[in-house]
Amino acid sequence: MRKKFVAGNWKMHGSLATNAALLDGVRAGVASLAAEVAVCVPYPYLDQARGALGGSNVAWGAQDVSEHAQGAYTGEVSATMLADFGCRYAIVGHSERRSYYGDTDSVVAAKFEAAMKANLVPILCVGETLDEREKNVTAAVVTRQLDAVISRCGIAALAKSIVAYEPVWAIGTGLTASPEQAQEVHALIRARVAREDAGVAAGLRILYGGSMKPGNAKELMAQPDIDGGLIGGAALVAADFIAICAAA
Ligand code: PGA
Repeated sequence: MRKKFVAGNWKMHGSLATNAALLDGVRAGVASLAAEVAVCVPYPYLDQARGALGGSNVAWGAQDVSEHAQGAYTGEVSATMLADFGCRYAIVGHSERRSYYGDTDSVVAAKFEAAMKANLVPILCVGETLDEREKNVTAAVVTRQLDAVISRCGIAALAKSIVAYEPVWAIGTGLTASPEQAQEVHALIRARVAREDAGVAAGLRILYGGSMKPGNAKELMAQPDIDGGLIGGAALVAADFIAICAAA
């Protein structure tokens, strides 16, 4: 049985003052829940997350990571720096990074590898755009994004990671994949991994992301291959995020 996992992706939101209330609320609200919980905060607030969440059952992480170990890469943040701040997770390949910042499949695979080398758990995001869904190439797109990581890092690396299926058309739009639509892609991801290693596939946690809310979380997470959620907008409201964690 895979343990459910819920991660908040705060994106570029927050301030010291608003974070303090949110972190305290989440820490208290999920203390007795069974699901694993994490929040991925903007870089400047990692130290605040460490202070507020240390000793709790909420882990913290970053929303991206450099593919380089160190050096002349102005503005970048390395995986070892994240580990220094107690991060356990780093999101890689979020669709906003892919579309606005040019993160190609091969850059995402390099970031995944960099995170693993620093003992972080990468949360690898995959997902199709609306145009790709309408052209019926969802399976090909998701498989291509996954295969880039498998071919660079090997299938064993996936055993130490988390995958998030995030249909781009559902992110921040209020449109959610139906439980059946999401399950279909989750099953396809698991089957792709099973072709390489059935054991890794059975243990792999595959999160759904894209307008998951307290009202739809339970139904989505009841699907056999949906092992939790990657939550954007609803992660900024403590009560909503806690309700999703409770549904898990
Ligand atoms: P959303 O974002 O929950 O606001 O749709 C999810 C994400 O981008 O990870």
